[in-house]
Amino acid sequence: MSEPFRVGLLGHGTVGSAFDRLLGERADAIATATGRRPELCGVLTRSQGAFAEILSKADAIVELMGGIEPARECALASLAAGKPFVTANKQLLSQHGDELLAASRRTGVQVRYEAAVAGVVPVIRVMRESFAGAHLEKVYGIVNGTTNYILSEMARSGASYADALARAQELGYAEADPTEDVTGKDAAAKMAILARLGFHTSVHLDDVPYEGVEEITADDIDYAKEFGLVLKLLGVAERRGAGVSVRVFPAFLYGSHPLASVSGPFNAVTLESPAITEITLSGPGAGGIETASAVLGDLVSVISSGGMELDPIEQLPIVPGEEVESAFYLHLEVADRPGVLAEIARVLGDNEVSVKSVVQKGLGENARLVMVMHPVVERCFIDAVESISKLELLRGPPRAIRVIEEEFAA
Ligand SMILES: NC(=O)c1ccc[n+]([C@@H]2O[C@H](COP(=O)([O-])OP(=O)(O)OC[C@H]3O[C@@H](n4cnc5c(N)ncnc54)[C@H](OP(=O)(O)O)[C@@H]3O)[C@@H](O)[C@H]2O)c1
Repeated sequence: MSEPFRVGLLGHGTVGSAFDRLLGERADAIATATGRRPELCGVLTRSQGAFAEILSKADAIVELMGGIEPARECALASLAAGKPFVTANKQLLSQHGDELLAASRRTGVQVRYEAAVAGVVPVIRVMRESFAGAHLEKVYGIVNGTTNYILSEMARSGASYADALARAQELGYAEADPTEDVTGKDAAAKMAILARLGFHTSVHLDDVPYEGVEEITADDIDYAKEFGLVLKLLGVAERRGAGVSVRVFPAFLYGSHPLASVSGPFNAVTLESPAITEITLSGPGAGGIETASAVLGDLVSVISSGGMELDPIEQLPIVPGEEVESAFYLHLEVADRPGVLAEIARVLGDNEVSVKSVVQKGLGENARLVMVMHPVVERCFIDAVESISKLELLRGPPRAIRVIEEEFAA
């Protein structure tokens, strides 16, 4: 008989109940592989269990409650008691990661959080273990399945944002209150976690500016098709000079980009480093059983005494988004008369913004100008759009979306 490995489970909702089921199904196989048979020694919900009692019996704690408190207090108590802590909680890691990982280093007790980012896609494990010695330059990708489904559906069927969101809710890809997902905040929390791990620096959710998909129109997606572009909500963490920039924004990608074909509720993360060139990992971004499976993977690592996250944390400066260079798509409705294009080109030129391609379409008395710019420091582009907004020839507010310039051989 294998010796039991006692697991205290905090939370028994979508992921917690799936984890409970999976643990029962996989216990024998895990016992064979590790020599310890995992079993639950207590479950905490709002209506059952007492944390102190569960902690005293447990060899490790699995936290699937979500939110900051009491999850944070339970994490610190668990580490102080020498019990490894496994969690899927992105809020906790993106806002209290410094505190938790410092406690983990101090006590020599593991914190594992694979399921907090990109569901079942093993990006944390790959960054923490396979590429522990690599110097990552950039970590970016699609880390929110809800918005990826919405944008895919808008592109596929020409649906409006509101209709695509309603369909995502019907299919269970979006929650009744989708705010965290559609505003980009959920993706920002995940990018804070990936940036910390990738660059060994302290990054808090508050350091990550984010934009969501609520303002995207079917029109933008349609016009961009003429340039061969596909729209995605991207999280981008990259080194910039001596600092790091971490942001979330909708962006157009060329069709040959590895992330362009990631559609529906899937997630994908690309890691770039001189030593590895680049790799992209993709798979289901959420779901009870999928997330539970990532949590179980962490538990098996804990049972078999997998590695600690021991890298010292240094503080790299956060580079403001306005200082980063980006290419842009710009959509303008203007008066259809001679000299309009020249006037807009002058304003762009005055701000050092240069145009890569233009499509112009007549709309009766007005015209629609859709342009893709060469990369430029964002402050220059923002200034140019502010000046264009004041021109008398403009017929509606300008719409701008970033374009990722990298092209890949098909
Ligand atoms: N759902 C997904 O697809 C997914 C994907 C990736 C990561 N995650 C993460 O996984 C975690 C759990 O998500 P979920 O979807 O399973 O949540 P959920 O269905 O809302 O379940 C939460 C569970 O935690 C318990 N709980 C909440 N607050 C508590 C408190 N103060 N004290 C004791 N118990 C408490 C709830 O108890 P009651 O049953 O008494 O209400 C419930 O059993 C979150 O961190 C989430 O971000 C979820």
